[in-house]
Amino acid sequence: MEMHKTKILQKLRFPSLQERLEAIESAGYNTFLLKNSQIFLDMLTDSGTNAMSDQQLAAMMVADDSYAGSETFTRLEQVCQRIFRMEHFIPAHQGRACEHLLALLLVKPGQLVPMNYHFTTTKAHIVRMGGEVVELPHAEALDPESSCPFKGNMDVAALRRLLEEHGPEKVAFVRMEAGTNLIGGQPFSLANLEAVYRVCREFGVLLVLDASLLADNLYFIKVREDACRDMTLAEIVAGISRNCDVIYFSARKLGCARGGGIVTSNHELAAGLKELLPLFEGFLTYGGMSVREMEALAVGLEETLDEDMVSQGPLFIAYMVEELKKAGVPVVTPAGGLGCHLDARRFLDHIPQTQYPAGALAAALYIVSGIRGMERGTLSEQRNPDGSERLADMELLRLALPRRVFTLSQVKYAVDRIVWLHQNRHLVGGLEFVEEPQTLRFFLGRLAPMGDWPARLARALEENLAYSTL
Ligand code: F0G
Repeated sequence: MEMHKTKILQKLRFPSLQERLEAIESAGYNTFLLKNSQIFLDMLTDSGTNAMSDQQLAAMMVADDSYAGSETFTRLEQVCQRIFRMEHFIPAHQGRACEHLLALLLVKPGQLVPMNYHFTTTKAHIVRMGGEVVELPHAEALDPESSCPFKGNMDVAALRRLLEEHGPEKVAFVRMEAGTNLIGGQPFSLANLEAVYRVCREFGVLLVLDASLLADNLYFIKVREDACRDMTLAEIVAGISRNCDVIYFSARKLGCARGGGIVTSNHELAAGLKELLPLFEGFLTYGGMSVREMEALAVGLEETLDEDMVSQGPLFIAYMVEELKKAGVPVVTPAGGLGCHLDARRFLDHIPQTQYPAGALAAALYIVSGIRGMERGTLSEQRNPDGSERLADMELLRLALPRRVFTLSQVKYAVDRIVWLHQNRHLVGGLEFVEEPQTLRFFLGRLAPMGDWPARLARALEENLAYSTL
């Protein structure tokens, strides 16, 4: 049950089937290129689209605008110091800006960055500096159908082997990602983070935590990890902070605002970051963020420690996953944070990975429902240096549930359309690139359907709707 009520709303539009067919064609079958006016339910991402609380909006009105030394910065810095129990707070305009600064400072050509799993922008920044990402996921991380409560855990024995084999000088830093995005918003346990940190300290390497999806991860630690059941969320955050050297986050997710930041008690690293900040982000007291967003973030971070404020997302996602599972639709289990993830490889098992099944599923779902999801599969990968496709470990269509935004009846509508699409899945075909950018191609790339499947899918839907209104 939601422990909040709606005070401000935004009217939605429901584009017609014909409009949807034309819109996806002109967007190059890439849901990133659709316009919001062409969308009914936007489940692309939870990034910058979470509902803000009345307290956050109120705080925005007292923002203190000044280039240097604003009161707003001091308030946000103090909140970060109190919650994360670290000394330095470095503001940045969003999560990838933190990744940019950390990679500039820490990654040297030829170095490795072991992590529980990569995120697109993280990997791009590490590779840009000549580093290499090494994924050490949990044995069940890539199994879409699992009951493991902590699929985001790192394989600690593999980390130890890597450090023994290559030596700590070869490792730029170790990275853990909360609410591991690309494997379906899956959490790590506090016990696993503690074990990873013990190994990092033994070998003298830094442990960096990507806390962008920390809110969901905190909730899962609280409800799934026996040793933490009686802890408050604030105590769990303290436990996490004690077990890493650097924490960075996208405040478009954590804190339900728009911005980002890095916290650390490592003075040398903080000094290095503070030197780079005015060059790339802005002065030390805003780092590219607007002061209004900084005020909203300070309140949003405090609210992340309130179980009532963070439980709605994971609970709605669990409902959606369970309903789809009951109807035989392949979904990633257990339900994670961030959103519901359809397993496109099983959903569209007649489409090879080189024809982007998750991208095709995203386009097909938009056509039949007006819902926009995000491809998280081979299309989101970068080609190998020799030009061959790098096939993704998982082919997922992510249907994000931005926090506190959608109602349960909207979730039920999504389930209804997905179940229909699953029953008619043989009508969906693959996609091929017609314009393919070299970096982060999923953002701006344009594709075309292989054959006339979008029109045939639309005809089947029209027949179904005509029949159901008789
Ligand atoms: N780390 C993780 C785990 C993320 O999910 C994201 C963003 C970033 C870093 C980068 O943060 O967008 O503020 O620059 N994820 C968004 C998403 C884009 O839709 O999942 P950013």
